[in-house]
Amino acid sequence: MNRNIRLSDNIYYVGVNDRRTHLFENLWPLDQGISYNAYLIKDKKNVLIDTVEISKTENLIRELKAILGDAPLHYLVVNHTEPDHSGALYALLKVWPELCVVGNKVTFRFLDGFYGAAANTLVIEHDDVLETGSLQLRFYSTPMIHWPETMMSFEEKNGILFSGDAFGSFKTLDGGIFDDEIDPADYEDEMRRYYSNIVGKYGKNVQRAFTLLEDLPIKIIASTHGPVFRKDPGWVLSRYARWSREDTRPGVVLIYGSMYGHTEEMVDYTARCLKEAGVPRVLVYDASKTHASHILSAVWEYNGVVLASPAYNNELFPSMKNVIEKFLERKMAKRLVAVMGISTWSGGGVKGLLQLTEALGWEIVADAHEAKYAAGPADLEKCRALAKTLSQRVLNS
Ligand code: FEO
Repeated sequence: MNRNIRLSDNIYYVGVNDRRTHLFENLWPLDQGISYNAYLIKDKKNVLIDTVEISKTENLIRELKAILGDAPLHYLVVNHTEPDHSGALYALLKVWPELCVVGNKVTFRFLDGFYGAAANTLVIEHDDVLETGSLQLRFYSTPMIHWPETMMSFEEKNGILFSGDAFGSFKTLDGGIFDDEIDPADYEDEMRRYYSNIVGKYGKNVQRAFTLLEDLPIKIIASTHGPVFRKDPGWVLSRYARWSREDTRPGVVLIYGSMYGHTEEMVDYTARCLKEAGVPRVLVYDASKTHASHILSAVWEYNGVVLASPAYNNELFPSMKNVIEKFLERKMAKRLVAVMGISTWSGGGVKGLLQLTEALGWEIVADAHEAKYAAGPADLEKCRALAKTLSQRVLNS
């Protein structure tokens, strides 16, 4: 089927939606699915830019054949080798055995390892150009967005940046492919969750890419996941710029573990106190119930955090440990933190939170509070005091 979705006269969107896969990379929940975006330049030389995940190979080949007819596919540009984008490569080479695969030196290390060597390859370097006939693609090396071989391709006549994972998002494209056909705000949460969990560890590389691209006359951003931005590329550029700097907004994310509701009660009370103190955004997450990727995404946005845990076998509650380790893995920048929890026959929860907060290098704004068995009026007053101190710092930093 040729859906005839065009970015310009002879550049087609040939991507697919995936609503079946539960976990991206077998790790990250796809609550709202994901799209694997690929693009076809139909010209004197026909060029496919990236492919799709292996389960969608047939969809891609059908659409390529519908657009190309009997014409060959000459080139496949591999901006990123992760199999959600290179998964159809082997099948494409069966259909078009003369297909020439285009990538950098590192690209071919990865592709050869995954699929075996292709017969025809073109090794390019940063700033090299591929002529397609009426158009030209210039290549930009952008390592670690998200793997070492990652590059971007810029189509110079129409100003289209094929950006790989950068500027991508979870969430399928439900009829609307372009930003003027959707409300980009509907994608913002899933875009930040995608950025913070998948690419966020490499914020410095994202900033380096921004420096590289700042003089390009970009009119369209076409990434490998999520909407194509042709009306307002600045919308996605500004968000990625802010997230790559971990430029947070005033707000507090409260994260807790709770077996029977006693720690939760302290957290709910603290959330109310924060709101009364004027904190504009207050979000509460049960670490046992909400996947860590959603919690990490929320913390990426705001400058304040409350961590709360009961003692569990003399230690930190396991689901809290799991979430905080995600922060550690990404070396997240400083947040303002208040710590609280509950002890029973022993402590361990608050102690564990303090140790991990110190390992993160985050600032604890006031003495931690640990109630015994359940929070009484005096404990809740301590929570109110913590909320007051935290809110002052959050609002004034
Ligand atoms: Fe969408 Fe790094 O793959």
